[in-house]
Amino acid sequence: MRLAIPGEASAQIGHNRAMSTKRLLVVYHSQTGATRRMLEAVLVGARDPDCGDIDVVVREALQTSAEDVLAAQGLILGTPENFGYMSGGLKDFFDRIYYPCLEHTRGLPYGLFIRGGNDGTGARSAIERIVTGLGWRSVAAPVILAGDFEDSQLADCGLLGQTLAAGLSAGVF
Ligand SMILES: Cc1cc2nc3c(=O)[nH]c(=O)nc-3n(C[C@H](O)[C@H](O)[C@H](O)COP(=O)(O)O)c2cc1C
Repeated sequence: MRLAIPGEASAQIGHNRAMSTKRLLVVYHSQTGATRRMLEAVLVGARDPDCGDIDVVVREALQTSAEDVLAAQGLILGTPENFGYMSGGLKDFFDRIYYPCLEHTRGLPYGLFIRGGNDGTGARSAIERIVTGLGWRSVAAPVILAGDFEDSQLADCGLLGQTLAAGLSAGVF
């Protein structure tokens, strides 16, 4: 017979509640701050209270581990385009997490934002090749901001954050 432990019921409820809160991991790299501006707009969207109860975790790419990815139910990646590719920081992230995550994150819903000086498509295709290998699932159109951009153009970044958060919260992904 299993004895009741005082306080266990409420602890269990708390545990279940924590377990049901989905985690959205946002991984980014920014050398001179432009991608960070996009990140800030993404976070405003992801943390919109109307999007539901979501645990939004932000990590700089070089500081992100495979465990961070394994603990997340959704992911947003952000990078500048450097030399027609993703940033070295984001590439380092993929190099470290690829095999530890390969068999455990198939179907992970993800979104992507890219800052390009004048392009961004090279970074996009490089990332899409890797996430195709991982079996992750794109659930929102990538946001690419190239050239000079106005704050008003950051609205798409906010929408990206909202889409991932609301979709996770509603369980549609
Ligand atoms: C070494 C280097 C290489 C770059 N290569 C590209 C490129 O291939 N295509 C592009 O559109 N912009 C390129 N840029 C411009 C950056 O994407 C742009 O400056 C961006 O705003 C940097 O983002 P960050 O401030 O978040 O680091 C390059 C910048 C640097 C420093």
